[in-house]
Amino acid sequence: MEPVEVKVSDLNVWIGGSHILKDVSMKAPPGAVTAVMGPSGSGKSTLIRVINRLIDLIPGARVEGKVLLGSLDALRADPYEVRRRTGMVFQEPNPFPHMTIYDNVAIGPRIHGLARGEELDRLVEWALKMAHLWDEVKDRLRDYPHQLSGGQKQRLSLARALALKPRVLLLDEPTANIDPVSTVKIERSIMEYAKTTMATVIIVTHTPQQAARISDHILFIYQGRVVEYGPTREVVLHPRHELTRKFLGGEV
Ligand SMILES: Nc1ncnc2c1ncn2[C@@H]1O[C@H](COP(=O)(O)OP(=O)(O)O)[C@@H](O)[C@H]1O
Ligand SMILES: [Mg+2]
Repeated sequence: MEPVEVKVSDLNVWIGGSHILKDVSMKAPPGAVTAVMGPSGSGKSTLIRVINRLIDLIPGARVEGKVLLGSLDALRADPYEVRRRTGMVFQEPNPFPHMTIYDNVAIGPRIHGLARGEELDRLVEWALKMAHLWDEVKDRLRDYPHQLSGGQKQRLSLARALALKPRVLLLDEPTANIDPVSTVKIERSIMEYAKTTMATVIIVTHTPQQAARISDHILFIYQGRVVEYGPTREVVLHPRHELTRKFLGGEV
């Protein structure tokens, strides 16, 4: 599987009359975790929605600029093609309630004809192990997800995304509403996925602490503009901008 760099250039987004993202440029390299941090309302989710073209579903949204997923021109490509190449995990765990735990993970590979029979079993096991959920569900793969805790449901949502082995994995505050143990497991999982498969992982995070723990690069967005972008150590230890210093210190 070839590595896919995500490259955003001069991105501007308007929703209704509001200018939401302003001249945003950033890169997320393969084999690494890039954290997008910033206060609520700064445009983090909008950036993710542009990268996977969910922005198309927002009435009145206008997008200018360029987004490359490797060589794919994401703003001009077929949106289904873009979404097929990008895995997505939302803030709210969203397993399909009418499907078993097994089927929740198997659905993507089944739809795309990637695996069946024992090969599909192995893929489901791989994804559940990668999401650090396997040990907790291996004896109840035919149960329905309503019996799982919130954190387990979120790891199931992650396993469902991983089963397609996306070259680009996007996560929008995936641990904002779940327990600390599941949070640690999800953090480990996405770091391992990036490193072991050379995938490009972009995670929106609600805390600078999480960005510091798990990312290789940090993008700090404030009121729709990129304030700071760089290697995590540099941004955390030697922020170049006063706003970044304030955000890291919990002041904005
Ligand atoms: N569907 C929408 N309709 C109108 N305004 C929106 C919509 N989605 C986002 N916005 C506005 O865009 C800005 C950025 O939102 P968002 O990207 O969700 O920020 P963040 O994820 O950083 O909290 C906010 O001011 C928000 O109100
Ligand atoms: Mg958001």
